Amino acid sequence: MAAAGLRFDGRVVLVTGAGGGLGRAYALAFAERGASVVVNDLGGDFKGYGKSSSAADKVVDEIRAKGGKAVPNYDSVEDGEKLVRTALEAFGRIDIVINNAGILRDRSFVRISDEDWDIIHRIHLRGSFLVTRAAWNHMKNQKFGRIIMTSSAAGIYGNFGQANYSAAKLGLLGLANTIAIEGRKYNIHCNTIAPTAGSRLTQTVMPQDLVDAFKPEYVAPLVVWLCHESCAENGSLFEVGAGWIGKLRWERSLGAIVRGKNQPMTPEAVRDKWEKVCDFDNASKPRTIQESISVLSDALSQIESQGNISMNSTSSGSVVSSSVDTASIVGRKLGTNVYKYTHLEPILYALGVGMSTKDPDHLKFLFEGSEEFCCLPSFGVIPAQTSMFDAVPSLSGLNIDLARMLHGEQYLELYKPLPTSGELRSVATVADILDKGSGAVLLIDVNTYSGKDLVCYNQFSLFFVGAGGFGGKRISEKAKLTAVPPQRPPDAVISDVTTADQAALYRLSGDWNPLHVDPSFAALGGFKKPILHGLCTFGFAARNVLKQFANNDVKRFKAIKVRFAKPVYPGETLQTEMWKEGDRIHFQTKVKETGEVAIAGGYVDIVPALEKPSAREPLRAGGLQSNLVFEEIGRRVKEMGNELVKKVNAVFQWDITKDGKTAMQWTIDLKNGSGAVYQGPARNSADTIFTLSDEDFMDVVQQKVNPQKAFFAGKLKVKGNIMLSQKLEMILKDYAKL
Ligand code: NAI
Repeated sequence: MAAAGLRFDGRVVLVTGAGGGLGRAYALAFAERGASVVVNDLGGDFKGYGKSSSAADKVVDEIRAKGGKAVPNYDSVEDGEKLVRTALEAFGRIDIVINNAGILRDRSFVRISDEDWDIIHRIHLRGSFLVTRAAWNHMKNQKFGRIIMTSSAAGIYGNFGQANYSAAKLGLLGLANTIAIEGRKYNIHCNTIAPTAGSRLTQTVMPQDLVDAFKPEYVAPLVVWLCHESCAENGSLFEVGAGWIGKLRWERSLGAIVRGKNQPMTPEAVRDKWEKVCDFDNASKPRTIQESISVLSDALSQIESQGNISMNSTSSGSVVSSSVDTASIVGRKLGTNVYKYTHLEPILYALGVGMSTKDPDHLKFLFEGSEEFCCLPSFGVIPAQTSMFDAVPSLSGLNIDLARMLHGEQYLELYKPLPTSGELRSVATVADILDKGSGAVLLIDVNTYSGKDLVCYNQFSLFFVGAGGFGGKRISEKAKLTAVPPQRPPDAVISDVTTADQAALYRLSGDWNPLHVDPSFAALGGFKKPILHGLCTFGFAARNVLKQFANNDVKRFKAIKVRFAKPVYPGETLQTEMWKEGDRIHFQTKVKETGEVAIAGGYVDIVPALEKPSAREPLRAGGLQSNLVFEEIGRRVKEMGNELVKKVNAVFQWDITKDGKTAMQWTIDLKNGSGAVYQGPARNSADTIFTLSDEDFMDVVQQKVNPQKAFFAGKLKVKGNIMLSQKLEMILKDYAKL
């Protein structure tokens, strides 16, 4: 039963609730990869009644029959110590704990009894605590531990009828977040999953074919990977199911300051700033409590500095002029810039960053007639920089001195491949202003759109020498940070000799600063000759990573971050050193002749190669077929409305979509008078709103697809009272026989 790859030989894994469902899949997967497994299961029913040893025994037998190592444990997770003792007695250590055991006591909120509330918390939350605590010191002493907490989408998003379960499940995330911090220095990692899988827990809410399709085996590999010694992930949350995995994080609006210095804070001020409080444009993604809280101390100092503006500021070189507070500049839009281009610009850019027809791989970036003609992802900085250079000098309220400006860092994120020609609209915003003492840093965020679609986001970090000391904050949670490369030798190194005219060629893409071409201007800046653009070196590095790790597939290039550390002179040799760490490629670029690091702390995030999704069914042509069904239902409601209103007592609204847009709305009112069916949104309020496509609607009424399946597949969206939809199913079945 040996499986190659990620091995767990010598490791001891405790899986709670491993007698069936997900837990069984984990136990089998770990055993197959060489681990010794404690198969814990109390063996009761899904509501937590009863107990039996057979559940755990069966899985142990299964593992042993395949040549694996396993022992059973029949205790409840509430006896955490006993579970860990079984591991120590049988195998002498404990390395990995998978907190998985669980039960359900679903009831609508007001009907939850004390017992139903308590038992759910005791098994899920307290049980995970007790088992993990019992293992903790062993992990700490051996400087290795991996812990999984099992949360649920019900906790993350809420789910009707699961208040007790939701609370406990999200409680586990809080527990995991702190354990991850406390365990880090002992190499104890704790991550949380929110799985979806067919099991006896989901059997009650999912149709059988989905229960069969969402196999626990499509969750287990994530758990196995997260628990491997080579996995650095810690303190993260993943949704997983059906062979798909996604990571979750927090997003926070920029928020707004709603009080003034020496003034009371009022609810009216809150109301007036409400839009800004809830505006997710330019939102931040705080990852730590420090990042979270820093905004509060910033707010305090911003409020305190109001009205304190000195008329004779001592920092006369300060980037922030003495009459303006930074709060009014941060978040300010710098205007919009339109960049029009043909295939010429992407080709010129590709040549500028050293591409050559000598390399057959490069043709698709250099020849507009190539079948795969495309734009280098790093070209995304070009339209953005044009907009920024236009806007920054005119930023009112700031004493900008371009002669003292250095391009410090750059971040670029792509949301779709860049068009090879067309019109791109860039909107620049001041993300933050930092006071680094020796200088000021201006963070400029630029969103670039093609039509309505956001195609890329840039963050320029501009350093103004000597402009610091204005009393501003030093760090910003909005700043995209560089990353330290691994200690080991690079996984790949690519060298490029730049030509003497590299800067002269690159500048034609739109960076006209004479520093890069005019020797006397360069001398003024203290350079022995004109220097290469930092963004040109950036382009070399980006295309090398794209080739080495993403097969030159521009769709797989997600984001890039660099810090410009030292200048490069045209003619020097660039040496890009790369390290692959999962989907992140760390890199740095050195000047080969001097050994100096020109780009430091760089990384590119790539999207893993995916199999092609199967082609979608072609859409049926013509008008909306669902109209016929609603008209038919309308006739029936006319005949027997009174009776239905008594039975159902609810208003349902339908938003029928075609090609992704709402094409028609219908309301079935079985609450008021003797009922009615009409086009348009509910005239009063709807109890339940359904959204689905015309095609899926037809599949549902013709009973080709059952509504629950459509719901779980994300085809049918339901807002409002989801329970009422069961009554509706009854009507659709009876009244829509076409
Ligand atoms: P399952 O019912 O097949 O597995 C749970 C196992 O835990 C059962 O074998 C049960 O006997 C055992 N168990 C219950 N109470 C116990 C206790 N006090 N001590 C020891 N063992 C106990 O269900 P499934 O779906 O495999 O669930 C596993 C975990 O995943 C649960 O924590 C569940 O809440 C969670 N989950 C599952 C989802 C799904 O789609 N299947 C969705 C979200 C979360």
